[in-house]
Amino acid sequence: MNMIELIKKSRSVRRFDASVPVTRDTLIGLIDAARFAPTGANKQPLRFLPVSEKAACDKLFPMLHWAMALPEWKGPEPNERPAAYIVILADTEIVPEQRVAMDVGIAAQTIALTAASIDLGCCMLGAFKKEDLTQCLQLPDTLIPELVLAIGKKGENIRLVDARKGNDLRYYRDEMDNHCVPKRTLDELVYDHRFI
Ligand SMILES: Cc1cc2nc3c(=O)[nH]c(=O)nc-3n(C[C@H](O)[C@H](O)[C@H](O)COP(=O)(O)O)c2cc1C
Repeated sequence: MNMIELIKKSRSVRRFDASVPVTRDTLIGLIDAARFAPTGANKQPLRFLPVSEKAACDKLFPMLHWAMALPEWKGPEPNERPAAYIVILADTEIVPEQRVAMDVGIAAQTIALTAASIDLGCCMLGAFKKEDLTQCLQLPDTLIPELVLAIGKKGENIRLVDARKGNDLRYYRDEMDNHCVPKRTLDELVYDHRFI
């Protein structure tokens, strides 16, 4: 699979096959990929918390907010839940929290692409109960949870569709229950401009 195919394959998966476990070793492999990602000034301020045990996954799940654009959907059913997670933490002793967002994004996409390359689905979740998670993990004040990555075997069909200019960009489910993700066309993205 070439790079563009892998990028297209790497979608936000929200319905998984919960019967397929994801081992801690697999999560460690994904974290190892993020280890080599670029970070501002090479400070490497992120820490990655692997969660693969069922009991821990069950504690984390209620802290997550799924699919804001699908308010009628209550989130993944028990048999659709992710088998594992990676929580990305910012070590604010290394970099102030307001400066880690780009590093978090790059690390998250590195993990998502690596997961797709081994046939695992991933969803980045920025909407979660931060205080509950901090408390539940008994994190020190200096470690801030930034993003949760849900990981597991993909259990839904996802279609990329071209979004016409001015059209709604909200994802939706079609009549076949495919999850559809509108993406702006190349014409709209390429901003040609002359330098003076
Ligand atoms: C920084 C970030 C935070 C996100 N947070 C959530 C979230 O809390 N819940 C959720 O269901 N999806 C979340 N998503 C997934 C986006 O909704 C998704 O990327 C978007 O719908 C486009 O779909 P695609 O990733 O398949 O291209 C997040 C994505 C990013 C990049």
